[in-house]
Amino acid sequence: MSADNFIPKPYSHSIENGSVSVQAPSNIALVKYWGKYGEQLPQNASVSFTLSECRTETTLHFEKISRSENFNFEVYLDGKREESFEPKIQKFFERVEKYVPFLKEYKFKIETKNTFPHSSGIASSASGMSALAVCLVQLENQLLGVNLSTALDETRESQLNKASFLARLGSGSASRSIEGPLVVWGVHPEIEGSSNLFGVKYPDAVHENFSNYQDTILLVDKGEKQVSSTVGHDLMHDHPYSAERFKEANNNLAKLKTIFKEGDLSAFIEIVESEALQLHAMMMASKPYFILMKPNTLEIINNIWDFRRETGSEVCFTLDAGANVHVLYPVSEKERVQKFIVEQLAVFCKNGEYIHDQCGLGARLIS
Ligand code: PMV
Repeated sequence: MSADNFIPKPYSHSIENGSVSVQAPSNIALVKYWGKYGEQLPQNASVSFTLSECRTETTLHFEKISRSENFNFEVYLDGKREESFEPKIQKFFERVEKYVPFLKEYKFKIETKNTFPHSSGIASSASGMSALAVCLVQLENQLLGVNLSTALDETRESQLNKASFLARLGSGSASRSIEGPLVVWGVHPEIEGSSNLFGVKYPDAVHENFSNYQDTILLVDKGEKQVSSTVGHDLMHDHPYSAERFKEANNNLAKLKTIFKEGDLSAFIEIVESEALQLHAMMMASKPYFILMKPNTLEIINNIWDFRRETGSEVCFTLDAGANVHVLYPVSEKERVQKFIVEQLAVFCKNGEYIHDQCGLGARLIS
């Protein structure tokens, strides 16, 4: 399949105005994507848990206009115009226009809100871009006259792929937020159907140990990102360890395949924590180099390791491109780990703040 497969056939319907509302969650990578080429294509395959509570809700209002030279849109966050978001959406529209060619025929008002605080350091690009991508696919359905309630499974699948394909062009990791609870993005020889163009629901066996997996996000540093992910990905181009890193990520995904099937939580922890530290090791070894962990990030990691040693718990951590820590644990340990978080980890969070989340199923329409 090539990107051109996502260019639609001519639209058969005309829609004057309306709106569509979608909610889409964030996701947390277990095998990390860090390094890209071409137009938002990943250098290695990644896999993530789709989250549930941390999400963006977006309403796309549209009104037909005569075809204009430029895109015509305004973005509102929590009801207030947010011009600082508009360059990112402009760039997104430029990238996706070929695949949703109606964009210049409408005036859009994009109303968006997040269920997590904007300054929490939780990336809203994955949830935000995937919510907007699903809105565009929904509008396109109307223009194509697709009736979702009677659509064949094949049509649904191609719609999910298209939403993920568009989301990817907004933010790579957004391609993994359309479905859940486990999504792979990037071609991998051992994952059937995997693609660099869009994320796919993990197709193989998953042991019940991974059902309803829990993720508590500890908000260590709530500021804006020090280094944008665009800059971070770029630094992987002339990086001394990038080739090995991309190989290692693909090997780790291959190992996870067996782990998911057998439910081996100790082996899971080894891969997931190593992936988090490798992501940060790449940042520390790039030129220019940078450190996104804070002292409290390390305090939390050490406390998790101590707790595991002392109690035999299977709690572990992962990190994004920032100082916050995602604490991952099986649902069977929910009570014990949440008690540990309250009693021993919350003290390392800014204002004691954390968010309890868990795996979820991806984007959906809000009626
Ligand atoms: O989606 P981007 O371009 O912001 O990249 C984010 C990459 C990480 O979050 C650091 C890792 C991942 O795979 O999600």
